[in-house]
Amino acid sequence: MSADETTHAAPGTGPGDEAGRAPASVVDAAAAAAQEPSSATAVEARGELAEIEPVVGVSKPDAILVADDVVRRFGGMTACDVDHLEVQRGAITALIGPNGAGKTTFFNLLTGFDTPQSGTWSFEGRSLQGKSGARVAKAGMVRTFQLTKALSRLTVLQNMLLAAPDNPGERFWLSWLPFTWRAHEMAATEKAMEILARFKLADKAPDYAGSLSGGQRKLLEMARALMTDPTMIMLDEPMAGVNPVLVQSLLGHVQALRDEGMTVLFVEHDMHAVRHISDWVVVMAEGRIVAEGPPASVMRDQAVVDAYLGAHHDTDLGDDSLLDPEILARLEAEEEKR
Ligand SMILES: Nc1ncnc2c1ncn2[C@@H]1O[C@H](COP(=O)(O)OP(=O)(O)OP(=O)(O)O)[C@@H](O)[C@H]1O
Ligand SMILES: [Mg+2]
Repeated sequence: MSADETTHAAPGTGPGDEAGRAPASVVDAAAAAAQEPSSATAVEARGELAEIEPVVGVSKPDAILVADDVVRRFGGMTACDVDHLEVQRGAITALIGPNGAGKTTFFNLLTGFDTPQSGTWSFEGRSLQGKSGARVAKAGMVRTFQLTKALSRLTVLQNMLLAAPDNPGERFWLSWLPFTWRAHEMAATEKAMEILARFKLADKAPDYAGSLSGGQRKLLEMARALMTDPTMIMLDEPMAGVNPVLVQSLLGHVQALRDEGMTVLFVEHDMHAVRHISDWVVVMAEGRIVAEGPPASVMRDQAVVDAYLGAHHDTDLGDDSLLDPEILARLEAEEEKR
């Protein structure tokens, strides 16, 4: 399959269907859901969000992630200082803000890749502070990285298998029972291939990850995250450097995951993408959360406009009148499906 074919992939279709298999993985189900009306959870999550007041720190009706007083300083500079944030279960929440606002730092702290000077946070009611990235992922919260972490000298499939949870080959007391790890490896390979098929990367499975295009690496990053069947996925700029057609496909995947019931928190600078797929938007500037609310109203908020204009004079906040009519038509078609 050419890179071009990959980039033209419509969300929710894949060779898995051609093989006549019933949807077996979370991605299959998610992709199937993208074609259907949203799941009850997703519709409910959105309905509940529409009812609440768009003020910083507002309680969510069904919060899956709650963070309090999370502070990270580098030398004298405060990169992150979040008083209170709740993330609604089953919804797509976008975390936006100018460069250097502290979005990645906040992600790193929540997911165990960095340690704050202070703060508490819990996921599904369980405290995650002090837990390693691996423990956080095991709890059901996985993240992708702004700079993709795929290992170039491993194949695409090997990259996927590395992300598989609980490889018994790594456990000493099971490693001498070859049938144990062989069965595990076969199941993991099957799962990896299903997910890759969904992302139009199945043909790339034997290729070195280093040979993938930037956009395909972003897809691989998302595919890897799904190997652990997460409850919540956190994406750090999943669309950066990705061509516009592939962006459409990625947006479709993100919506499909939400429609399946997964919670999505994503950092993004593309305001059109944010405006069209988010159920809720959280805005950071200089380490603090300065606004939160539904996309349309947040992007009109003066604090948000000021935060962006302070650093990004050329950023439009998703004003559709500035959008190419063809792209707008596509985005509207996406929205109608919701
Ligand atoms: N390891 C570090 N050491 C020192 N300073 C850091 C470190 N990591 C981040 N910073 C600083 O913290 C601030 C917040 O950075 P962060 O990467 O979280 O911003 P961001 O909102 O993700 O920006 P972008 O949109 O450009 O990705 C920046 O001023 C950055 O230079
Ligand atoms: Mg960042």
